[in-house]
Formats: sequence, structure tokens, C-alpha cells
Amino acid sequence: MTPHPLAIAADDTTEGRVIVIGAGVIGLSIAWRLAQAGRRVVVLERDAAGSGASGAAAGMLAPLAEVDFVEDALIDLKRESLRRYPAFVAQLEAASGLSLDYRTEGTLAVAIDRDDAERLRHHFDHQRRLDLPVQWLTGDQARALEPFLSPSIQAAVSIPSDHQIDNRRLAQALHLAAERAGAVVIEGAHVDHVQIDGGRVRSLNARAREAPDQPLTLRAEALVVAAGCGSRAIAGLGPLSPPVRPVKGQMLSVQMPAEHVLTRVVRAPECYLVPRSDGRLLIGATSEERGFDTAVTAGGLFELLRGAYETLPVVAELDLVQTWAGLRPCSLDNDPILGHTGVEGLLMATGHYRNGILLTPVTADAVAEALLTRTTPPLIAPFSPARFL
Ligand code: FAD
Ligand code: GLY
Repeated sequence: MTPHPLAIAADDTTEGRVIVIGAGVIGLSIAWRLAQAGRRVVVLERDAAGSGASGAAAGMLAPLAEVDFVEDALIDLKRESLRRYPAFVAQLEAASGLSLDYRTEGTLAVAIDRDDAERLRHHFDHQRRLDLPVQWLTGDQARALEPFLSPSIQAAVSIPSDHQIDNRRLAQALHLAAERAGAVVIEGAHVDHVQIDGGRVRSLNARAREAPDQPLTLRAEALVVAAGCGSRAIAGLGPLSPPVRPVKGQMLSVQMPAEHVLTRVVRAPECYLVPRSDGRLLIGATSEERGFDTAVTAGGLFELLRGAYETLPVVAELDLVQTWAGLRPCSLDNDPILGHTGVEGLLMATGHYRNGILLTPVTADAVAEALLTRTTPPLIAPFSPARFL
């Protein structure tokens, strides 16, 4: 008889065992860290590892370009995560044997007309007040750096410290590294329900894709909810259910010629452009409130292509490679939801919205540390799940 696909996770020895729900970059990186620390870790993923927002993203590591006017604690978290990126990448590349295409050419935020230039200046002044390392450029100075930029570009802000990574490779590498460190990652395992009893987490109910009519109860000493947009649908969490909703983003990629037409990430008013070393140029992304809809629409692609053409006219000549859409996990206040919940053994790592790729190293370190030490690292204290109670 074929064993049940979840049998490997269904033994009764809960001691030291952690179950992570969701195999996006957040769940996998936490699992990797916990396995490295010697914990027994099982990751349950309803679909394929990396198939959620983590596979749909653009991979920009952009704490400064995306700096908002109300995000003091978040900007610190983003900058700290970016600071950890080079060492994180080196360790992960060594552990997985994969190259992650971590690129440090930087980012240009560009203005196409006078209104954009005013907005960009306003944003630039805010970045300068925060003492961030940014530089104002004229249109000609921007074109000297990126000669294929449109002649209509009026001005730009150079942000050399905002980098990028291939997020699909990142997810693949984390999957490999977590398994090599001893974590068990089970794909096609849907978590329906979490049991909390006497103020602590006890177990969860999960169904395997191959045996949907035979749900199993899996016991664990600790549980990390890292299910992205799916986090809210997990039953049994009561008032702790994380208030996360999906914000749809459509994207496409085109193929650059051997002589690449762009080296830096460019952020324009209507789109962003992200060049990969393999010659793909990613163009993203829409921001739409459409629930769990992941359809790619003609209107969405039209808007992105219009914005890309205004910024980098040569785009019109390039072959289309792929189109896709993903769902950003966005919380009620747009900030991530991280750490202990007040229920013993239950932690959250969700709601990373537009910055989950950037925030992966710091989230993995801090949530693993919180779980292992039963404390809250100060960096993630402002993002406690308790703020929504
Ligand atoms: P996910 O990758 O969605 O992983 C969650 C996983 O949980 C999924 O695989 C899902 O199948 C699984 N799951 C859900 N429910 C259950 C359940 N009940 N049982 C078992 N498994 C379950 N961020 C950046 O930093 N830079 C960018 O440039 C960037 N660009 C983006 C562009 C787009 C178009 C989008 C959509 C997002 C972008 N993001 C970017 C945001 C980033 O992708 C997310 O913040 C990040 O991927 C969140 O990771 P995650 O692991 O929490 O979620
Ligand atoms: N951070 C880019 C996006 O969410 O589209």
C-alpha cells in the first residue's frame, strides 16, 4: 500500500518539531534558519514551492526607491535586510549551488514630464531629509548612464544602494538549502485548520493533493504561519487570524538583444523595468484590488507597455517572453506581521506586501530567533501580530 503523502509528518513525536505553513521565500527561509539551528522542521505547501507571490515578483531590493512618507520602523527593517543581503546570498549560493543573480548596479527613478519631475523632487527632498544616499540627475546625466532611456526623460534620482536579485532562483535555492539542512518540504499539502488549546498551539489538519478525502492531524511544538495571501483563510486562529488581503500585480518580460539595453533597475511613473543577466527585461507591475483573481488582462499589459515605451522606446522592438500575475500579501496597515502571537508556539510571518523579497533575510533571522529564544528581537517588535487585536 502507498503510504499517505503526509505520513512523514504525522508521527507523534512533537518534541522540538516546528511546522511552517507556506513555502514562499518567507516560509522557506525561516525553515532553512531553523533547520540550521538543529530543529526538526516540516514545511507544508498547498501548491508548488515558490509558486505564490515569491515567483511572481520582480526581485527589486529597494528600500529607498519605495520609501514612503509614513514608515519609520519599516524603513529601518528594509535597510537592515538589504545590509544583510550580500552575506545571505553568499551563504545561500554555497548551500544550494545556485547563482541568484544578485546585482548591485543600482536604481534610477525617472521623471518623464514636468508633473513627474515635481513629484520626484518632492520624494527626493524627503529621502534627503532622512539622510538617504540619493543623487539628483538631469535627463542628460541619466541618459549618459543608460543611453536607451527616452529623450523625453526630464530628470532622475540615482539610488546606487537599491539592488536586485532573481526571486525565482531565490525561492529554488531556499528550497534546496532548507532540505539540505534537514527540513522536510511537502508540496501539495493544504493546511485547513489549526488547533489551539489551553493557550498553546497543539496541531493542525492538512490534506494532501493525492488524498484529499483523508485529512491528517499533525502535531507540532511550534507553528509558523507564512502562507502569504492564504494566511487569513486558515481556520482556528480566531482573533489572531492575520488581516491580509491580496493586491494583484500583473507583469511581463521581453528579451533584450545580446547587447543589453538596460543595466540598472529603472522606476518610471507608470511602470518599473528590471534587467536580468540572462537577457530578460521584466516590466511591472499593476496594483489592483481584485480578490484572488490572477488573470492577465489586455488592459493591464497595455498600461505596462505604454509606460515602458514612454521610458525606454526600444522595448517596442523586443520579443515578448512571458506574462503573469501574482498576489501581494497586504496587511491592514501595509506592514508585515511578524513574531509571537501570545498563543504559545504560534508565530506569524506574513503580510510582506511589496517588499517580501527584500525583507527575506531579516525576516528569516528575526522570526527564527524569536522562535528559538522565545523573545522578540527589537527590530520586529513594531510588527507584532498583537497590533491588530
Ligand atoms: P508567497 O510567496 O505567496 O508564499 C506563501 C505560500 O503559502 C504560497 O506558496 C501558498 O501556496 C502557500 N499557502 C497559502 N495558504 C496555504 C495553506 N492553507 N496551506 C499550505 N500552503 C499555503 N517584493 C520585493 O521585495 N521586491 C519586488 O520587486 C517585488 N515585486 C513584486 C511584484 C509583484 C507582481 C508581486 C505580486 C509581488 C512583488 N513583491 C516584491 C512582493 C513579494 O513577492 C512578496 O511580499 C513575497 O513574495 C511574500 O512571500 P511569502 O513567502 O510571504 O508569500
Ligand atoms: N515591489 C514591487 C511591486 O510590488 O510591484
